[in-house]
Amino acid sequence: MNLEGKRILIIITGGIAAYKMNTAVRGFIKEGAEVKVILTPAAKDFVTPLTLSVLSRNEVLWDLSSSSGTWNNHVELALWSDAILVAPCTANTLSKMVHGACDNLAMAVYMSAKCPVFIAPAMDLDMYRHPSTRQNIQRAQDFGHILIPAEEGELASGLHGEGRMAEPEHLIETVRQYFESKDFIKNMAGKKVLITAGPTYEAIDPVRFIGNHSSGKMGFALAEEAAKRGADVILISGPSHEKIKGNHIQLIRVTSAKEMFQEVFRYFSGIDMAIASAAVADYAPKEVAAEKIKKDGDSMTIELVKNPDILKTMGEQKKKQFLIGFALETQNEEAHAKEKLHRKNLDMIVLNSLRDSGAGFQTDTNRIRIFTESQEKEFPIKPKSAVAADILDFAVAQMAK
Ligand SMILES: Cc1cc2nc3c(=O)[nH]c(=O)nc-3n(C[C@H](O)[C@H](O)[C@H](O)COP(=O)(O)O)c2cc1C
Repeated sequence: MNLEGKRILIIITGGIAAYKMNTAVRGFIKEGAEVKVILTPAAKDFVTPLTLSVLSRNEVLWDLSSSSGTWNNHVELALWSDAILVAPCTANTLSKMVHGACDNLAMAVYMSAKCPVFIAPAMDLDMYRHPSTRQNIQRAQDFGHILIPAEEGELASGLHGEGRMAEPEHLIETVRQYFESKDFIKNMAGKKVLITAGPTYEAIDPVRFIGNHSSGKMGFALAEEAAKRGADVILISGPSHEKIKGNHIQLIRVTSAKEMFQEVFRYFSGIDMAIASAAVADYAPKEVAAEKIKKDGDSMTIELVKNPDILKTMGEQKKKQFLIGFALETQNEEAHAKEKLHRKNLDMIVLNSLRDSGAGFQTDTNRIRIFTESQEKEFPIKPKSAVAADILDFAVAQMAK
């Protein structure tokens, strides 16, 4: 039994392939999973709640509130789930998912969920081929959802082509493999990881500063991914609007490079891995004016002095720590990244280029290349959560060598 104890919430929508879901629910239970089923109102014409509740051993729900006027708590249902499987996923529900429409219990649960989401579309071949369906599938994948593609074969309409929902065994196998790989990468359990994130603000006077456009998204995604894999994470972040999701993350907020430096070296000697994803200001104003500087004359000069180099100091002090740096370059990217890898005594460097659209500071996606002394690997554009997983997969494999 490979899905022992895993909580799988299955959303069944109003497609003809819904008839296969009795078998799928039974299969998940046989694998040891706990299963709850939610139907869209349209799905009730295709399957019966009674059969599904017997097979899933749980009440089957479809409305946001029950006939007695009680709320079917969609938030609790979402947080209960280790994974959500939308199968079959109609063109209609797929469209709602990627556009944020929330007009039934299934959509409210989906939109409240933090767990991985699997979608198994099923529709007639022309619907499946339609540009809007193609686009919506792509968008769902960009959200990080896992597609279980429709298969080619005979369709309920009598036509032959792509659009048949994957068979129940395939649905179960995809979810099982996902958890197997996650459990495999729990090998960060017990590891202490320090991550820096966000920009730093270097004060000019009480109201002004020198900063940069870093959002902190990449560092926060790395912290969440490392924590999911069992690591204890210390996240030291400059000013960022990001909030922490998940346990085992100690968040320390700082403002300037000097504060970040102090916090980093409070913990550095006791950690196993450090990931420096913060965009730290290289220079800070020499003097910070005590009062707001008044407008005076056509120009003004601010003298800047070098900030302490946090990453370089980590490289100098490191003993057992596996050290990962980031390079955000606009030209000669590869050469600069490799040079930084050597100069700062890093074990691994992650390069993203500002020349790539969808990569860099304020985006939700990133396209990276990873370099070590002897290896390099290029990754396609992905959501930052998936990029974090790629970085940690690579790092864990390097550490094991
Ligand atoms: C007999 C029948 C079969 C259908 N099969 C599908 C299907 O396979 N895929 C699909 O996207 N829509 C299918 N539809 C259309 C959906 O039921 C319709 O778009 C509905 O609004 C979907 O609602 P839901 O996404 O909330 O479940 C079918 C409709 C009927 C009447």
